[in-house]
Order: sequence, then C-alpha cells, then structure tokens
Amino acid sequence: MEFSTLTSASLHQRTTQALAVGVFEDQQLSEAAEILDRASDGALRAVLQHEFKAKSGSQLVLRNVAGIKAERIVLVGLGKQEKYRPQVLSKAETAFAKYCLEASLTDAISALSSVDANHSTLRERTRLSAQALLGATYRFDQTLSQKADPITLKSVQIWVSPTLESEAQAGLQEGAAIGKGSNFTRLLADLPPNICTPTYLADQAKQLAKDYPSLKVEVLQRKQMEALKMGSFLSVAKGSVEPPVFIVIKHQPKAAADEAAPLVLVGKGLTFDAGGISLKPAAKMDEMKYDMAGAASVFGSMMAVAELELDQPVIGVVASCENLPSGTANKPGDVVTSMAGKTIEILNTDAEGRLVLCDALTYVERFKPAAVIDVATLTGACIVALGHVNTGLFSPDDGLAEELLAAAQSSGDAAWRLPLGDAYQEQLKSNFADIANIGGPAAGSVTAACFLQRFTEAYPWAHLDVAGTAWDSGSNKGATGRPVPLLVQFILNRQAQ
Ligand code: BES
Ligand code: MN
Ligand code: ZN
Repeated sequence: MEFSTLTSASLHQRTTQALAVGVFEDQQLSEAAEILDRASDGALRAVLQHEFKAKSGSQLVLRNVAGIKAERIVLVGLGKQEKYRPQVLSKAETAFAKYCLEASLTDAISALSSVDANHSTLRERTRLSAQALLGATYRFDQTLSQKADPITLKSVQIWVSPTLESEAQAGLQEGAAIGKGSNFTRLLADLPPNICTPTYLADQAKQLAKDYPSLKVEVLQRKQMEALKMGSFLSVAKGSVEPPVFIVIKHQPKAAADEAAPLVLVGKGLTFDAGGISLKPAAKMDEMKYDMAGAASVFGSMMAVAELELDQPVIGVVASCENLPSGTANKPGDVVTSMAGKTIEILNTDAEGRLVLCDALTYVERFKPAAVIDVATLTGACIVALGHVNTGLFSPDDGLAEELLAAAQSSGDAAWRLPLGDAYQEQLKSNFADIANIGGPAAGSVTAACFLQRFTEAYPWAHLDVAGTAWDSGSNKGATGRPVPLLVQFILNRQAQ
C-alpha cells in the first residue's frame, strides 16, 4: 500500500473509488466535509440532519453524489468533538480501510487526518492514519490451507492543507514504518509455537539483517551463554529440547557519532510458557505462545527504526527459550546464580520471565545505554490491574517515565504508570538466596518489576508489562502489535531532541 499527500482545494473534483471525510456528532463539518457539502448542494448536511448520527466508529456510504467526482463518499463518525483522541482517528481510519478492502477497491482518498482537534499535530495524525490503514491489511494465513485474498488497495491519498504538506509526508513515512513493524510483530506473535521456536526467531533476526543494511545481528547459542554465566536464563531453558538463543540486533546509523549512546530494547522471548514444573492450568494455555510478544515487539520496532534510517543508534535484545515441565526442568526450591552474580531462589517456575530478563538486563550494561526499555508479557496480575487497555509502565526514573507516557499518549498506544519501591522489595526476601523469584499474591506486577529493577542499576531503565495488551482473546484472538507504536514514537521523540 502506497501513501501520498493530496493538497488540492477542489476535493469534489477528484476521481477516486472512495473518499473518506470525518464528521462530529455536533454536525459541525470538517473542512473537507464542508467542501463536499457545498459542491453537492448540501447533500452531507442533509444526511447528517436525518440519518447519520456520526457516532465514533460508525460509517455511512453515499454513492454517486451529484457534484462530486468520487464514486463514493464515506462519511466516518468521529463522535463528540471534545472527546476526539488519537484512538478515535485510528478507529475511523481502520473502519474506512476495512470498508475499502471488503469492497475490493484499488484506490482511495482519506481526509480523516486533516481534522484538527485536541492539540495534535498533523504529523502525528498522518502517522496514525498510515499506521491504521496498514494495520487493517493484516491477515494471518500462514497456517491456513486457504490463503487470504491479495490486498487490492494499492494507493491511498491523504488530503491535507498545502501549507503543511512536508509535515504530513514525514508523518506518513513514519506511520508506514510503524505499521509495517507492527504487522511483522503481529505475524511473529500469531505464529504457532511449533513453528515460532527460539531458533525460528534467530533466523528471522538474520533475515532482518539481510533486508536492512543498517542492521547487524548476532545470535548467541547455549555455549556462549554458559560462558557469560547466564545461569538464571539457562535454568528456564533446561526443561526443553529446543535450544535457547540470545539475539542482539544493532541499528548502526551512518550519521551517528561513534560515542552516541544507544537506546536498548529488551524483549521477553518465551516461545511457549507452560509454567514449567509449576504447570499452568489447561484453559487458554495455547495463548502462552504469545509469551514472546515482547520479543516480537522488539523485532517490529527494530524493523521500523531501520526502515526510517534513524540517526539514533538502537539495539534490540531478545532472550528466547521455552518453559516446559520435564525431567531436566528447573524446580521450585532451586537456587540459581544470575549473570550479575546475585543468587535467586526459584519458588515458582512459572515466574520465568524475570529469570530470563534479569540476565539480558545485565548483558546490555556493556552497551553503556542512554536508556533501556524491556518489554514483557510478564504477569497475569497486570491484566487484573489494568485490563486490556493500558500497558503497565514501571520506572524509577521520572523523566524517562514521562517520556514514555507522552509517547503513549500521542501514538494512541496507551500506558499507565505503576509504582516501584523498597516497601514492595521486602516481598522478594528469601531465606536461601539473595532474592526470591516471586513476591506473593499481592501486587504481583509490581514485585515482578521490582525483581527486574535489581538488575538495572547501571542505566536509566523502564519496564513495559504487555500481558494485557499484546494480544486479543476470544473470537478476535490475535496479536495487536503493541507496544510497537509507543516504542517507535519514543525513539522518534528522542531523536527530535
Ligand atoms: N507469561 C506469564 C504471564 C501471563 C499470564 C501473561 C497470562 C499473560 C497472560 C508469566 O510467565 C507468568 O506465568 N507469571 C506468573 C507469575 C506468578 C507465578 C508470580 C503469573 O502471572 O501468574
Ligand atoms: Mn510463566
Ligand atoms: Zn511467561
């Protein structure tokens, strides 16, 4: 799908199969809708008065409107003007794209991102539009005998004011990269665990390095991890015959100064989490194929960063293995020694994410990072706390937390900050090791983050718990691609500083 800008004032004279314009519930017309209404002798105002309420997410298609060259006008409801947020634009653009795809259209014009409301910039809005349009084309058919129909919608023109065209183009380019990265993340996460193994992820990383000249990839195997003394990570991998891998993907921009400190993304890459000896119940256990969604989001973000050829050095690190019960698996009561030298008492083998991540967080010290952000489907407790709406954000660094919240806000990829603190660290005391791997039932996502915090003293750090946001369950079961928009927005904002 190709995006371009369209700045013509005579929108009514443009030929296209479908032209989307946004309208609010108060019937106040957007600039584009106003142009069409005038050219059609009030056709838009008439339907708004009589049949279209413009509720957020609703659509009305008008065909062959007199005075309008477009074959169809798609009126897209934007809800209440005062409630207009990035999510509303994404939803509207997604609905329009779904309509075009369903109708097998080949070209379209969208004026949705030109609607200015609630202090967003045009660049932010065109970014969201491109991202949403691309997101709507995602189909998972890798393991279906019947392949999905090819995407017919090849070109979408985004209507914007001529004075802001370059801003709009920059947003479209960013949105296309984020959309592409998110779709890649969704694909990796949706793949079944018998295909998407740690080795498969390593191969995907190598492929990324072939596709993007700025990316260099290194894959560490068990032997090398043993030499690095990653005793905590390796204890999780012990129960499976699938070999663990430790993947490092470096984006090395040509323009960056050699001493520029990198941003580091660390992803939890459990390609399946059965819980180990502390076995999970059977219901929904299939969804634990998504326990590598954090890793998948690192892949997708690195793809977007490389696609945009950003000047900021970024390093993605993925620690990947399976967590299975077996005769060789780790056990409750085991004490293991992490790469940092701290000993850990494993009280529950299902709290494996932190055991894997702690060694990755120690490993990345060598990069002298400007900041490290780990992404993990870490705790069921995070779903209890925040549901499927917000990603859980933890950081002892107020500045970094604010930056991530700002990126979440403008990308529409919501996050909510949760606390850390010594009072919670108490819960991780062990009689037999430096630290226990669980802190009891209270504040489960906080104590998990507190565990990670012990391994992150060397750099500014934040943790994103995406247990509730990385995939949808039920009849819409499938990966969301979150938090790729948040992460890439954060990196873009850093680069702009
Ligand atoms: N991968 C799970 C967390 C999870 C569970 C994410 C369900 C999404 C949906 C993680 O490894 C885990 O099992 N965590 C335990 C921690 C507990 C044993 C302290 C959990 O949340 O139950
Ligand atoms: Mn687990
Ligand atoms: Zn897990």
